Amino acid sequence: MFEGLQSLKELTAALENSDRGFCEALYAEAGALRDRTIGNKVHLRGLVEISNICRKNCLYCGIRASNGCATRYEISDDEILYAAKFAFEQGYGSLCIQSGERTDAAFTGRITKLVKQIKALSGGALGITLSLGEQSFETLHEWFEAGAHRYLIRIEASNPQLYAKLHPEDNLHSYENRLQVLRDLRSIGWQVGSGVMIGLPYQTFDDLAGDLLFLKDFDIDMVGMGPYIPHPDTPLGRLCLSGEAVIPSEADRLTLSLKMVALLRLLMPDINIAATTALEVLDPQGREMAVKAGANIVMPNISPSAVRAQYDLYEGKKNLTESAALGEMEIGYNEWGDSLRFKSRVS
Ligand code: 5AD
Ligand code: SF4
Repeated sequence: MFEGLQSLKELTAALENSDRGFCEALYAEAGALRDRTIGNKVHLRGLVEISNICRKNCLYCGIRASNGCATRYEISDDEILYAAKFAFEQGYGSLCIQSGERTDAAFTGRITKLVKQIKALSGGALGITLSLGEQSFETLHEWFEAGAHRYLIRIEASNPQLYAKLHPEDNLHSYENRLQVLRDLRSIGWQVGSGVMIGLPYQTFDDLAGDLLFLKDFDIDMVGMGPYIPHPDTPLGRLCLSGEAVIPSEADRLTLSLKMVALLRLLMPDINIAATTALEVLDPQGREMAVKAGANIVMPNISPSAVRAQYDLYEGKKNLTESAALGEMEIGYNEWGDSLRFKSRVS
C-alpha cells in the first residue's frame, strides 16, 4: 500500500497525515518489509559514552561547551576496555564509542590506541562503531586503519537553512564541513551512519521529507534519528520551554519519529535503522514501537553507571533505565549485523 512513496510531495503528505489507522498501517507495512528484507531480527550495539567534554556549542545540546551547569567527565581506558569486554561477553557483536567532539592529538591518538586494544581483546570479533564528531580526513583514516569500521555522524537537519538556525554561525559549526566528513568517511571505506532530529523548532514537514531523501540520495548505510527533546540549559531549549519557539507536542513528536522510521524503511529496505534512546523519553515503549515500525538496531547503554547521568544531551535522558523488551524480535547475538546495503555496495 505504501511502497513507492518516493517523492518529496508524497513523503510530506504521509508525514502530515495524522490519521491513526493510516499511521498503524504504515508501521505494519514497514515492519513487514524489514522482516522480508533483512529478517525479523534486532542487532545490539553496546553504547559507551566515554566523555561529555565537547568543543562545540550546538544550540540544542545539553553538553555544549558553554553549558557551565554540565559536570564534565572522562572515563579511563580501563573502564572503556571493561565495557568492551562486557559487550563481547554478552554477545553484543558490536560496540559503539561515543563522546563530545575533541580533535586534539592527545584525544585522537588515544582513540587509535583503544580501537587496537579492543580489537585485540576480542580477537577481532567485536565490531567497533565510532561516534566522535567531525574529524579530519587523516584522523578518520587512522581510526579506520586501526580497526574501527562504522562511523555515526548525524546531519541533524539536512536543510542548510534549518541547520544554521540550530548552530552558532562560525567555522566550527559549518554545514558544509559536516557534509564533507560524510563524504570523507565514504571514500575511506567506513560504513556510514547519519540521522536527524525530529520535531525541532522551525522544522517543517517538507524539511523532514527532505531529510529522508537526503539519507536516500547519500545512500547511507545506517540511520539513527529521534525526537528533539528540549534541554533547559540550552539556548534552543529555553526558547521552546518559554513558548517563544513552538515544537510539536510530545505525542506528536513520538508519532512523527515512528513515521520517519517507517518511511525510511520503505525507501531503504536494506539499511540498518536504530530505535533511538530519545524515543524512550517520550514513551517507555518508544524503542519497541520503533522496532515494530521497521527499526532493527538497539543500542543498550553500557557506560559506567557513575557517569551515565552526566551524558546529559536532553531532558529526561539521565532517568532512563535499560529496558530490553523487544516483543517478538529475535536478537542477533555474536553477529556484527552489518547493513545489507553496505555489504552489497562493497561486494
Ligand atoms: N534532543 C534530542 N537529541 C539531541 N541530541 C543532542 N541534543 C539533543 C536534544 N536536545 C542528539 C544529536 C546528536 C546526538 C549525539 O544527540 O542528534 O547528534
Ligand atoms: Fe557537542 Fe555533539 Fe552536543 Fe554538538 S551535539 S554540542 S557536537 S556533543
